[in-house]
Amino acid sequence: MTASAVTAAETREPSNLFYQTRTRRPVVAGAEGIYIWDRQGRRYIDGSSGAMVANIGHRNPRVLAAMRRQMEEATFAYRLHFENEAAETLAKRIAARMPEHLERVFFASGGSEAVESCVKLARQHALATGQASRYKVISRFPSYHGATLGALALTGYAPMTAPFAPMMHEMPKVPAPTCYLDNDDLDWEARGLRYAEMLRDEIRRQGAETVLAFVMEPVGGASTGALVAPDSYYGRIRDICDEYGVLLILDEVMSGVGRTGRFLAAEHWRLRPDIVALSKGFAAGYAPLGAMVADRRLVEPVLEAGGFIHGYTYAGNPLACAAGLAVLEEIESRDLMANAEQMGKILKRGLRGLMARLPFIGDVRGLGLLLALELVADRRTMRPLPRELEAHSRLVEIAYERGLIIYSRRTRGGLEGDHFMVCPPMIVDEPQITEILALLEESLAAFAAQAGLPTA
Ligand SMILES: Cc1ncc(COP(=O)(O)O)c(C=O)c1O
Repeated sequence: MTASAVTAAETREPSNLFYQTRTRRPVVAGAEGIYIWDRQGRRYIDGSSGAMVANIGHRNPRVLAAMRRQMEEATFAYRLHFENEAAETLAKRIAARMPEHLERVFFASGGSEAVESCVKLARQHALATGQASRYKVISRFPSYHGATLGALALTGYAPMTAPFAPMMHEMPKVPAPTCYLDNDDLDWEARGLRYAEMLRDEIRRQGAETVLAFVMEPVGGASTGALVAPDSYYGRIRDICDEYGVLLILDEVMSGVGRTGRFLAAEHWRLRPDIVALSKGFAAGYAPLGAMVADRRLVEPVLEAGGFIHGYTYAGNPLACAAGLAVLEEIESRDLMANAEQMGKILKRGLRGLMARLPFIGDVRGLGLLLALELVADRRTMRPLPRELEAHSRLVEIAYERGLIIYSRRTRGGLEGDHFMVCPPMIVDEPQITEILALLEESLAAFAAQAGLPTA
């Protein structure tokens, strides 16, 4: 934080609110496009779209107008008492964007809720079709699927799961396909197949008759830093799931709704899921919104058997759905997915340029505008920087002082390693990317100077 922002934070009233830490942040005063302003008039570039949420930027007039219209009509009508047009239309529009058969939509208010809905539908489908022995959901390590206890049982991120381990039914994990860390003689695609086969091994180890589903982020989020597997991985995963009657749940909470340049990241590989979770960019920060989109062939037997035993008070909230619908219209009418793809290429090229100049950048990865860079002590071995350097939080603070917001996590399951998501809104243009890269380079140089790292 700058001196003025620090002073402002320190002289403020104590807060009754608390989140993770005692850190205070400046108070937001306004936001427009890719920029946010605080009460001191400082401008920040939202280089991570918040937590990869504000996909169409801030204060979008189409979305604000749609929400105002909805507010005049009804802000809430309980789903068991009334249907609402915003939810119905949004469900139709989403279904039209999905692979064949993924037609049934269940709304939630966030990513954790969406993921839990997917798991509960899968389980109820198993019960409705005489497969009661199936209840295990295999996921990957590292991964992030949410913070509520059900979703957390799927999450592979040690610092977040460990305290709650005794309270959860922790689910089996297979390694995420971190092929870029492997030091072997296999080529890239062969490595992808090797990781996919780990799923087969785990299904067999658990007993296929007990395995309900496999859940994964097709392009990784914050826990892996935009991890993309080799092409070979995706098709083999689908085949293995089919072979053992295991449902494939794609967690597209972060990667979905256009951020990677396709509506679903899965489209890059023509990967067909059975169930998908969406949130974050879905209503793009204008309202809390998430969704499960499921194959109708899964939903029908559940409804037939007596109904889906699950629900949230705010499921299908008209205001949230009106926001989601307007966000979708904005993405479609301005072709923002094409912009994400094109600007993503330019930003990635720029990040690779930084990597060429700065030896402590070990990897640049991701698709579209879901991009990340990883810092290492040794690029050849990919040995992480010393833990105590706390690079993941320090660089974020250094960039913040310069008016650039990026998002970081520890790389290796939360235990060590440092990666940074650079994920501006999908409306970003080329001059803004140049600005982001300049601030990032300045921040990396300042971090290197503080940490005593070589810059050439
Ligand atoms: C891939 C993925 N799944 C699920 C979630 C949980 O979403 P929420 O924080 O909205 O509950 C997140 C949030 O970061 C995520 O990135």
